[in-house]
Amino acid sequence: MSILVTGGAGYIGSHTVVELLELGKEVVIIDDLSNASSKVIDRIENITGKRPAFYQLDVKDKNALRTVFEKEDIESAIHFAAFKAVGESVQKPGLYYENNLMGILALVEVMLEFDVKKIVFSSSATVYGSFNPSPYKEDMPVGVPTSPYGQTKVMCEQILRDIYVADNNWSISLLRYFNPIGAHESGLIGEDPSGIPNNLMPFIAQVAVGKREFLNIFGDDYDTEDGTCVRDYIHVVDLARGHVKALGKLDQDKQVYTYNLGSGKGTSVLELVNTFVQVTGVEVPYKIAPRRAGDLPVFYANADKALAELNWTTEKSIEDMCRDTWNWQSKNPNGYQG
Ligand code: UFG
Repeated sequence: MSILVTGGAGYIGSHTVVELLELGKEVVIIDDLSNASSKVIDRIENITGKRPAFYQLDVKDKNALRTVFEKEDIESAIHFAAFKAVGESVQKPGLYYENNLMGILALVEVMLEFDVKKIVFSSSATVYGSFNPSPYKEDMPVGVPTSPYGQTKVMCEQILRDIYVADNNWSISLLRYFNPIGAHESGLIGEDPSGIPNNLMPFIAQVAVGKREFLNIFGDDYDTEDGTCVRDYIHVVDLARGHVKALGKLDQDKQVYTYNLGSGKGTSVLELVNTFVQVTGVEVPYKIAPRRAGDLPVFYANADKALAELNWTTEKSIEDMCRDTWNWQSKNPNGYQG
């Protein structure tokens, strides 16, 4: 029996596939490689000694999906495949709604046809919106995210909740990620954004490796200790292990489970930059720039529920996240391009 991982060649997907393979699970990856490299499959094999089945296809393509379900013995799915750039989603809302909503709808329709009713969904802390106070708890009402990207996460969660209401044989886990950074300790897989990185850590890493001159810190006049925004950074390997635990939980009881996957601790932009410099010994020149539209000053998780119900908690520190990011970036200055 195999676990279908959509978007399994992507950043979080590939790390999750590694954890699953290392536990002896069978994995089938589908990925259209629109934001990932086929080299990831080789790297996963280098790390684990096992080669996952891989199909290059768009999750929206139901006929292609059906051929995978016909060939493989799929028992559950982890759905990562989606567009994820917040700023781009503001510019191209139609693209984001189409891709992210049609993707999940195609997947659950085909799963239903093949009587596969276990799914873990890649959601985001952005679903808490801008009015809930931190730390975010799973029983807070879902808010109104400031971007179409965030709205697609809210809508996908709702689609899955409604599917469960219609058929209680589904078992569903909604995982709300905080800020994943870091890389596998081998340095063989990591985050490889195309173009100019939107997120903080890949930008820091590209400045450190000399690809960019300096980092812009978006605002130092927030109401926080050092004036820069505070986020809950989580090592991608911890995050991947959270998926494994969440998947296991689906076998216990058929329900819709919702979990925050975060550390429960806030770190400011300046703290992250300073820790990176300390751990790696590499300079990261920065300038203070105006605030970025849509940024919240502070958000972090209450991570108690995942600990209590999944026996999952983060194990890796901010120092580990910086060291492993640098290990990946310095060994792969151009990401998977060589
Ligand atoms: N930042 C900079 N300079 C940069 C990039 C980011 O100062 O070049 C700052 C941002 O202003 C923010 C912090 O670093 O204060 C973190 O920014 P990221 O873009 O790395 O992450 P966000 O918290 O903005 O976004 C994350 C996820 C999104 C998700 C969002 C809300 O990447 O998927 O949290 O949950 F939607």
